[in-house]
This record gives sequence, structure tokens and C-alpha cells, in this order.
Amino acid sequence: MDLTGKIALITGASGGIGTSIANRLSGMGMHLVITGRNAEKLEILKKEIEKSGTKAHMIVADISVPDTPKQLIRETIQIFGKLDVLVNNAGYAILKSLEKTDVDDWDQSIAVNARAPFFMCKESIPYLQESSCATILNISSVVGRLGYVNQAVYTASKHALMGFSKVLAKEVQPLGIRVHTIAPGGVATDMVKTTRSDLDVTQLIHPKEIADIVEFLLKHRGNGIIDNINIRRSNSTPFA
Ligand SMILES: NC(=O)c1ccc[n+]([C@@H]2O[C@H](COP(=O)([O-])OP(=O)(O)OC[C@H]3O[C@@H](n4cnc5c(N)ncnc54)[C@H](OP(=O)(O)O)[C@@H]3O)[C@@H](O)[C@H]2O)c1
Repeated sequence: MDLTGKIALITGASGGIGTSIANRLSGMGMHLVITGRNAEKLEILKKEIEKSGTKAHMIVADISVPDTPKQLIRETIQIFGKLDVLVNNAGYAILKSLEKTDVDDWDQSIAVNARAPFFMCKESIPYLQESSCATILNISSVVGRLGYVNQAVYTASKHALMGFSKVLAKEVQPLGIRVHTIAPGGVATDMVKTTRSDLDVTQLIHPKEIADIVEFLLKHRGNGIIDNINIRRSNSTPFA
């Protein structure tokens, strides 16, 4: 599949994995809507993308605000007139025992990791169904299927993301929209410093390796469809 000139929207583009995916998609000739809260980081990324010869439109927005998903999709259509690929990458993780987790921790985690991608998907369907390469990529986590101590609320939110992705994939398959989830273990970004400061940094997955998977999933549009990819650190337990 040649993706030159196709339009992708990436949430959390101001951070490690999102920035890496943005650079990769731009390298594949795609035009991008990049979003996050950090305007400075988005500005730097926008310049990098434009240098590589594709267009980048940045939107500074807090995705935990209920109206943000609708606004992001609306602005994407206003600027580019279409949407081909949606990457739900923005994520929020806190390290707290269940006992210490309060209602604000719960609300923020669910808002960013589950509610926002849910409504991003919902709002994008009418536009994606017009595309010949319609794809939704939801960046989940190993805690979308396992559970780690002191990550109860993060784990709950990623299980929610996995749960609705399974239903979404079934509902939109007849519309020609493919849904993939990518579930990494520790990736070398700011987030892992919060969630797993105990890990050996030399063994962490590089954000570019997540971009490699995204590139493969987008280019590989054969009859074989990959629903989910689990990817783990090189020193973690195989098949865990
Ligand atoms: N790093 C890991 O070990 C790991 C492992 C498994 C899964 N993941 C998942 O990978 C994804 C990317 O994380 P990362 O590792 O690249 O972490 P990161 O560097 O901390 O990036 C997180 C991104 O999410 C955005 N974000 C967070 N809260 C937001 C909000 N309220 N509104 C808008 N944007 C918000 C941040 O943007 P601003 O700062 O600009 O707001 C940033 O761009 C997440 O979904 C995460 O759960 C990461």
C-alpha cells in the first residue's frame, strides 16, 4: 500500500512513541495532524515534518476534555478534507497502589486512555469509511492484558481500551476500516521513567521499533489481518 498523500491524525504526538510514529508516517509521504498539550514540542515536530516535505497541522489540546475528540476530527476535516489513519497514542500513567488511588487519578486515567480514544474512533468513522486505506491504531500496553502492582488504574484504563477495540473492529470491518492494537512492554520514553524506573534502560524497546510496527501494519493490506501485536523488552519473560 502506497500511503503518499494520505492523512493521519496522531494523538500524543508531542511524546516519545507519538513523535516517532509521526516522523515515520511523514517519511512515508503522509500529511499529518499532530496533537498534544505541549505546544513547544509540537512546534519542533511540525518543523521536522515540513523539512521532510509533507504537511503538518498542529493542534494544542487536552484530550481529557470531553469535547476535544470531536474538535480534533472536525479541524482535521476542515484542514485536509479527509482522514485515512487515526493513531490513538496519547496516554497517561501513574504509579500508585490501589489503596492510594483517588477518584481524580481514576477519572484522568480513564479520560485520557479510554474515553478519548473511544470518542476519537466514534467521530472518525464517517470519514474513515470513505478512505481506501482506513486504519485505526490504538496504542495499548502489556497492562491491557496483564496487571502490574501499583498500576491498577492504568491497567484498568488499558483493559478498557482493549475491550472497546475488539467491538469496534467487528463493527467497522464491514465499512472497510481496519483496527489494530499494539501492546508494548517498557519503551524508552518519559512515561517508563514514571511507571518502571526499576528497568534496565539498555533493554527497553526503542520508540522507533513501535514506528516499525505501525509502518508494517499500514503497508501490509493483504488478506491476512493482524488484530493485535504484543511486543516486549528483550530481557522480559517470553510468552508471559
Ligand atoms: N513507554 C512505555 O513503556 C509504554 C509501554 C506501553 C504502552 N505505552 C503507551 O504508549 C503511548 C505513548 O506513551 P509514551 O511512552 O510515548 O509516553 P510519553 O512520552 O509520556 O507521551 C505521552 C503522550 O501523551 C500525551 N498526553 C498525555 N496526557 C494528555 C492529555 N490530557 N491531553 C493530550 N495529550 C496528552 C502527551 O502529550 P503532552 O505532554 O503534550 O500533553 C504525550 O505526547 C501511551 O498510550 C502509553 O500508555 C507506553
